[in-house]
Amino acid sequence: MEMNPSGDSSWLARKLAKKFNKFVLRRLARWNRPGRPFYVQYRPDFETGSGRFTEAPALIKDWVHGMEENNWGDLARLYFLYENVQRLEREQIPGDFAELGVYKGCSAKVLHQLAPSRRFWLFDTFAGFADADAERESLRQVKRQDFGDTSLPAVRAFLGDSALLNYAVGRFPETLAGVPVDTNYALVHLDCDLEEPMRAGLEYFYPRISAGGLLIVHDYGSGLWPGVTFAVDQFLRDKPERLVSILDKSGTAVIVKQGAAQNHQSNPQAIAQAQ
Ligand SMILES: C[S@@+](CC[C@H](N)C(=O)[O-])C[C@H]1O[C@@H](n2cnc3c(N)ncnc32)[C@H](O)[C@@H]1O
Repeated sequence: MEMNPSGDSSWLARKLAKKFNKFVLRRLARWNRPGRPFYVQYRPDFETGSGRFTEAPALIKDWVHGMEENNWGDLARLYFLYENVQRLEREQIPGDFAELGVYKGCSAKVLHQLAPSRRFWLFDTFAGFADADAERESLRQVKRQDFGDTSLPAVRAFLGDSALLNYAVGRFPETLAGVPVDTNYALVHLDCDLEEPMRAGLEYFYPRISAGGLLIVHDYGSGLWPGVTFAVDQFLRDKPERLVSILDKSGTAVIVKQGAAQNHQSNPQAIAQAQ
């Protein structure tokens, strides 16, 4: 076997592997031509280079659970969640986690695994869009059955047992009645697709997010859910924060909250019920 000047016998193997990778990459990169529905991209250095992302195999498995077609091609979104939850944990940003729009639980499971000691609020009907929300969407054919192929028991089984997981089952914001009024958040993931719950989610969560906490809005830039874009743009008009877009599949956008979370005496739904 050929040896390099220092006598390292694995040198040739590494050299050949490098050549092979280059060859494969050149071939795969042809897929990056415009017009194709997906493209080839490097995995981040923190996974392949520094090896810092040791949780990658387990998290990726959960990320694609029951959503293989969409989520295998949207690893950028997973990497984004990973990096940013790491920061929240490192900086000890106070507050719970919340997700509005859980569906089969893929993003929820990843968030919970990355911050297992946070209380986590999971808002969904667990039966698809609520009729009242779907009927208001005039710009797109939204059906009640959309996202109906899930269930609370299935999501519970997938996420595992933890007293920190709180399921708020039903139409948001009606389900806020079960959340303590003094709850603050470090991370809120709004992924509900429709204008009405998005608007209600922004109004409820934004003032309750800690300084340095994250408000993540899925589908903001996709162009497929105009109600989401409209609700977010309207809501942020008089806020100091600006959106940063994440280059994942569905146009996620995010703000880092400025200013401390406010204390509240009641939740919006509790107010509505009292009237
Ligand atoms: C795109 S899916 C969420 C996907 C999930 N975050 C993920 O990445 O795996 C959207 C979800 O929002 C939920 N949803 C929409 N409007 C809602 C409302 N008003 N109250 C509760 N859940 C709602 C639907 O039931 C559906 O499960």
